[in-house]
Amino acid sequence: MKISADCNKLINADKAQDNVEINGWVRTKRETGGLCFIEINDGSCLANLQLIIEESSKEAWSVIKNITTGASIFAQGNLAASPGGNQDWELRVFKVIVLGESPENYPLQKKRHSDEFLRQIAHLRVRTNKYGAMARIRSKLSFSVHEYFQRHKFHYVTTPIITGSDCEGAGEMFNVSTVEEKTEIDAEYFFGKPAALTVSGQLSVENYCLALSKVYTFGPTFRAENSNTSRHISEFWMIEPEVAFATLEDNIELATDFVRHMARSVQDSSLEDLALFAKYVDKTLMHRLEILEGEKYETISYTDSIELLNKSGKKFEYQPKWGTDLQTEHERFLTEEYFKRPVFVINWPKEIKPFYMRVNDDEKTVSSMDLLVPIVGELIGGSAREERLSVIRDRLEEMNLSEEDYWWYLDTRRFGSAAHAGFGVGFERLMMLFTGISNIRDVIPFPRTPKSLEF
Ligand code: 4AD
Ligand code: MG
Repeated sequence: MKISADCNKLINADKAQDNVEINGWVRTKRETGGLCFIEINDGSCLANLQLIIEESSKEAWSVIKNITTGASIFAQGNLAASPGGNQDWELRVFKVIVLGESPENYPLQKKRHSDEFLRQIAHLRVRTNKYGAMARIRSKLSFSVHEYFQRHKFHYVTTPIITGSDCEGAGEMFNVSTVEEKTEIDAEYFFGKPAALTVSGQLSVENYCLALSKVYTFGPTFRAENSNTSRHISEFWMIEPEVAFATLEDNIELATDFVRHMARSVQDSSLEDLALFAKYVDKTLMHRLEILEGEKYETISYTDSIELLNKSGKKFEYQPKWGTDLQTEHERFLTEEYFKRPVFVINWPKEIKPFYMRVNDDEKTVSSMDLLVPIVGELIGGSAREERLSVIRDRLEEMNLSEEDYWWYLDTRRFGSAAHAGFGVGFERLMMLFTGISNIRDVIPFPRTPKSLEF
C-alpha cells in the first residue's frame, strides 16, 4: 500500500518539501484576488491543512469550481512556509483532482450545528471538528486501556457476546433468536436453550481469573433497560478487570490507579483534541482532569452516605433511604458538591446488589463499590466476589435464580476457590468524563437507544 502524507505530518512539518501528495475532504473554500484558499481535513488531526491554488496555475484553477464543502480531493504541490498567521505551512498546489463531488445538499455546510441535529446524521457527524476529535480520543483511550492492563501483566480475555446466563440477574437482556415471527415460539432453540446478548463479561472472566490470576475483558455489552437518560445506552463498551487473591481494598486501589492513569494518558495522547472540548464544550475539563489525576479519591460507606445526604439540607426529588439505590441527583451531590472529587461508595445493602457480591459479616451488606465522578455519576461498579460455595448458593436462591443455570460458574467455588475481586468501567461514561460531552449518545459512533436503530 502506498502511504501518502497525512495532514498532521504536513501541518507539523519541520521543513519545506517539494512535490507532496495529499488526500482529504474539503472543509472550506474561498477565493480572493486570483488566489483560492482551500482547507482540507483527512482525520489525522483536528487542524486543517491549507491549500493554495493560484489563477496562473491554469490546470488546477480550472478545477476549483467543483471543489465544494464536503468533496474529497487529491492534491499535489509544494509545502512552503505560510505568510498568514494562522498556520506554519501551506501547500501550494499545482495539481488537484476532485475524487468525490459534494453537491449543495451536503448537510454540513455551516460551521456549527446542534448535537440533536448531528445525531440524526450520525453517519456524517464524524466529519465535524467535534466528532472527529471525539472519535480520535475514543481510539486513543481504547488503546490506553490495553496498554495499562498489559503493562500491569493482566491477560486479555475475550468473553462471549451470546450467553445463556444473566450476569447481573436483573433480567435486562436482549434475546437472541433465529425465529422471525413471534408465533413460532415452538420452534427449536438454535442453541438448544434460550440465548441472550451479554450484560457483562464478568462471569466468564471470573473463570479465567481463577487460573490466570490477573485478567480483563473489554468488549460490547447490552442492556434492555427502558431508561431514556443521558447516561444510558442499550449497547455500550465495558472494561472489566478481575484479580485473584484480592480484596475490596485492592479493588479500590486498582480502580483509582486505572482512572488516574487514563486521566494522564488522555492528556498525553490527545491534547489538541481535548483543547477543543475545553474551549467549546466544558470549561472545567482541564481542571477536572487534574483532579482525577492527582487528588485523593474519597471512600464512604453506603450507610454513611445515606446519613450524609439526609443531613445535607439539600432538597432532593427522591428522599435518600437505606435499602434503596442512590439516584443520579444523590450521586452528583456527593461527588460534585460535597466531596468535589471522585468518591467510592462501599458496602451496599445486599438486597439491591447482584448475587455474586461477597456478603459482609453483618449479613446485611455486601463488599461492593461504586465509583462516583462529576458529570457522570456512577462510572464504575464492582465488588469482592462471594467465594464461599454455601453462601453463594443461598444468595442464588434468595434472588430466585436457578443453580442449574450457573453450574459452570459455581465450579470455580467448588474447585480451588479463592478470594477475588473486580469491577466494570463504562467506557462511554469514561469518554463523557474526559471530554465533558454531557449526552452518552454523543461519545459513541452509532448509539443504540430505545426506539432508535438507525445507521
Ligand atoms: O454496575 P454495573 O452494572 O456492573 C457490572 O456489570 C459488573 N458485572 C461489572 C464487574 O464487576 N465486572 O456496570 C458497570 C458500569 C457502570 O458503572 C456504568 O459505568 C456502565 O457499566 N453502565 C452503562 N453505561 C452505559 N449505558 C448503560 N446502560 C450502562 N449500564 C452500566
Ligand atoms: Mg452499577
